[in-house]
Amino acid sequence: MRIVLLGAPGAGKGTVAKLLTDHDGSVQISTGDILRNAVKAGTELGKKAKGYMERGELVPDDLIMDIMEARMKDPDCAKGFLLDGFPRTIPQAEALKKLLAKLNITLDLVVNIDVPREVILDRLTTRRTCSNPDCQEIYNIKSKPPKPDGTCVKCGSPAVQRADETEEAITKRLETYNEKTTPLIDFYQKEGLLKSIRSLSSEDIVNQIAVAIKK
Ligand code: AP5
Repeated sequence: MRIVLLGAPGAGKGTVAKLLTDHDGSVQISTGDILRNAVKAGTELGKKAKGYMERGELVPDDLIMDIMEARMKDPDCAKGFLLDGFPRTIPQAEALKKLLAKLNITLDLVVNIDVPREVILDRLTTRRTCSNPDCQEIYNIKSKPPKPDGTCVKCGSPAVQRADETEEAITKRLETYNEKTTPLIDFYQKEGLLKSIRSLSSEDIVNQIAVAIKK
């Protein structure tokens, strides 16, 4: 599968991407996870990205394209990839189109996960994420809780709230999404690649994607 997952913060892109990886071995490429790991490791990229992320703003396009150009050339991408949180702006989508043409790769599908705003707000305030950079399992204290002591079921590391899960940052992320990322829905509609899925069940979304890919 070569898929782009679009959707507001908290729509469930990461959750669906992880389920799809189990499905056929395609790799999940989450620019958010790559950036959070860089912040945690204190790399040059992390130092540049930290402030933007904590404020709920987008990291500049040139930094993101440098990361993605390198990542998409990695051999594991040959099995297929799920782009989670990228592209997020029209310039990123244009740059991705050029990069894919250069690498002789075509996208199968762009999925827009469409979830009502009140559900999103609830999910973002109740999410917990495994703090181990090699795991990063996604939890939710209501729908998928970590262990009772707050640790990850898979690796035992603490499952924590992210630095951008303050009310202020969540509001800013949703505004940024509406302004900068929703134009991509039109962009990919025109490219003939878009499939919008309105569903609250991640399993249902995965099944709908599997059916659309087979067509
Ligand atoms: P990023 O990490 O991409 O965050 P996001 O887009 O805001 O998305 P989230 O990770 O918050 O949500 P999600 O849709 O993956 O939902 P999840 O599956 O976790 O980006 C963070 C920051 O990095 C950005 O703000 C920006 O600064 C920077 N950045 C990243 N990429 C960039 C780019 N390309 N350009 C520029 N800057 C970039 O689910 C949410 C919760 O809901 C979880 O608790 C989950 O368990 C629960 N849940 C999910 N599905 C269901 C369900 N079906 N039923 C019940 N609960 C569910």
